[in-house]
Amino acid sequence: MSDNQLNVLVVCGSLRQNSYNAALARTLPALTPPGMALQAGPPFHTIPIYNHDIQDATGFPAEAVAWADAIRSADGVIIVSPEYNWSIPGGLKNAIDWVSRMKDIPFKEKPVALQSCATGALGGARMQYHMRQCLTSVDAFLFGKPEVLVSFSAKKFDEKTLALTDQPTIDIVKQQLGAFEKFVRRVNGRK
Ligand SMILES: Cc1cc2nc3c(=O)[nH]c(=O)nc-3n(C[C@H](O)[C@H](O)[C@H](O)COP(=O)(O)O)c2cc1C
Repeated sequence: MSDNQLNVLVVCGSLRQNSYNAALARTLPALTPPGMALQAGPPFHTIPIYNHDIQDATGFPAEAVAWADAIRSADGVIIVSPEYNWSIPGGLKNAIDWVSRMKDIPFKEKPVALQSCATGALGGARMQYHMRQCLTSVDAFLFGKPEVLVSFSAKKFDEKTLALTDQPTIDIVKQQLGAFEKFVRRVNGRK
């Protein structure tokens, strides 16, 4: 990684083996400009459900601390997530809830871009709007447009390999990554 290259964390909200969101997340390194190096975030699915009593008794779970550290040390974060019942998947929301209770909130002033794949027509739009609300509460800086909403995902990835095959989707993802790099550099004061 060159000195000038940004270190960006990619968080996937789906745990499913054949997840479209995970497939999109895997595609990002090939579509990102050379100024950003992407790495996958640590697992969050093993973090227990938030309970203030656990925090009081034994402190923050090690997995929550590792997740927070990865976010803190990144220049920016890309969240690629499905929408569950019109909102943020519970496991991912739980991880955000844990790190929101830490003194040095990892999302504070962190540039964050959102992407979602859904099998339906809205492409995860309602998850994205809820995520914007949720992350605004922890002082993240949300990237605006272009938005990446992959509707009817089953038609946009190869059935067997899960490679992203839809050219308009590839194009908009590239555009967002290019614009996100500029946003991260502006927010972090990086040339
Ligand atoms: C618990 C659950 C809730 C869902 N709710 C929504 C929803 O509110 N909106 C939507 O567009 N799709 C919804 N879906 C369908 C997902 O878009 C679809 O399962 C998608 O493939 C999940 O993402 P993944 O492939 O990355 O796992 C839901 C799926 C599950 C399992």
